[in-house]
Amino acid sequence: MPAESLASAPPAAAFDAAAARREFPALAQRVHGHPLVYLDSAATAQKPRAVLEALAGFYREDCANIHRSAHALSERATAGYEAARRQVQQFLGAASEREIVFTRGTTESLNLVAAGYASRLEPGDEVLITGLEHHSNIVPWQLACERSGARLVVAPIDERGEVPLEEFERRLSARTKVVAAAHISNALGTINPIAEFAARAHAVGAVLVVDGAQSAPHLPLDVQALGCDFFAFSGHKNFGPTGIGVLYGRAELLEALPPYQGGGDMIRSVTFEKTTYNDIPYKFEAGTPHIAGAIGLGAALAALTAWDMRAIAAYEHELTAYGLELLGGLRGVRLIGTARRRAGVFSFVVEGVHPHDVGTVLDSRGIAVRAGHHCAQPVMERFGLPATTRASLALYNTRADLDALAEGIGRVQAMFRS
Ligand code: ALA
Repeated sequence: MPAESLASAPPAAAFDAAAARREFPALAQRVHGHPLVYLDSAATAQKPRAVLEALAGFYREDCANIHRSAHALSERATAGYEAARRQVQQFLGAASEREIVFTRGTTESLNLVAAGYASRLEPGDEVLITGLEHHSNIVPWQLACERSGARLVVAPIDERGEVPLEEFERRLSARTKVVAAAHISNALGTINPIAEFAARAHAVGAVLVVDGAQSAPHLPLDVQALGCDFFAFSGHKNFGPTGIGVLYGRAELLEALPPYQGGGDMIRSVTFEKTTYNDIPYKFEAGTPHIAGAIGLGAALAALTAWDMRAIAAYEHELTAYGLELLGGLRGVRLIGTARRRAGVFSFVVEGVHPHDVGTVLDSRGIAVRAGHHCAQPVMERFGLPATTRASLALYNTRADLDALAEGIGRVQAMFRS
C-alpha cells in the first residue's frame, strides 16, 4: 500500500474512545478538586491497565536478567523481551526483528545514529534537518558535525509551520549524507511529508532518519512504505513505560554502524587485544537493558493494535478538527502553526498573558497542558515567541476535554482582565 494512503485507509471498525479511556486508571482522578483533563500526551501519555499489569507481572513472577542465566525465570524474561521486539517489528512494519534496537527513548535512538555517522561523515559532507525539529534531532547532529567537520543545513519552515518541499529540495545535493526530520512536530503538530523526503533524500544517496516520537502514538506506520532508513520513538509517549525506546534501522545500515556503547551482551568475544561485536540488534544493547520496559511497551503496542491504529488516527483526526475550530474561534487566542496536514497538537498564545500563567490557571482547574519552548527553541524563534501553551491529544481525549480547555482559557482571560 502506498505510504500516503496508509493513514487514510478505512479502519475495520470505529474507535470506541469512551471504552478505551476506561482502560487508563490515571484519567479517573480529580486534580485540585476538578476531574482531570489530561491534554499533555505529547510530553508523556498515560498508561493503560494492560501496561501496568505487564510491568507488575514481570517484577512479580519473571524478574531475571536476559540472554545470560540458565534458569526458568531468565528464560521467561528473555522470551518476554524478545516477544516485545517482534511486536515492535510488526507495529512498525519492519522487515526483520534484527532491525529493532531497544534504547532508553527517542533521544538515545537519535544520539546512537548521530554518533555512528559522526565517525563516517567527512569535511564537505552535509546533514540536512528541518526548521521544526525538537532539540533531540538538532543537537546530536551538531555534535556529529563538530566531530566530523560536516556542515549542518536547515530547511526552514514557513508561517504555517510547514517545510516547503522546494526549500527542502533546494538544500539537498550530492554532499548531503544524512537527512534527519521529525514525522510530526511536537511544538506545532505539523505532519512532515516523510515519503516525499525519503524519495528526495534517496535520489541524492542520503539516508533518512525519522524522529517518530510524536507520530508512533497517532498514525498507522509502515517504515518500509514510508522509506525510512532509521525511525526512532519512545515508549512513554506510546502509552508504555518511561526509560524504554526504539531505534529501527535498515539491517545493512545498522550492521555498518559502529557500536554506541561497550559492555556486556554487545560482544562476541573479548580479549585485552581485541573485541569482536555481537550481531545486530544486540551490538547496540550494551548492559542489562530495561527488560520490564520492553515488556510493558509490548503490552502497549498490543493494546494499540487491538484498538486499530487506523481507527485511532481517524478518531483523532476528527477530534483535532473540532479543537482547531473551537480554539480558532476564541477571541484573544492565537494558534501557532496552521499546517494543512497536522496532528492533535495545539500551540497557542493568549493575548496579554504569559504561557506559564495560562498553564498555572488551567492546572488549578484540573487541566494539564505544557507551557514553554517545548524543547524546540528554533521553532519559537521562527514565530518570534519565547514560549507557547500547548494542549496535545491522545486516543483517550474527547470533545468534552476540549470544551473544558476552551472554558478554562475563558477563565484565564477573565482573571487577567480583572
Ligand atoms: N518531547 C516532549 C514534549 O514535546 C517532552 O513535550
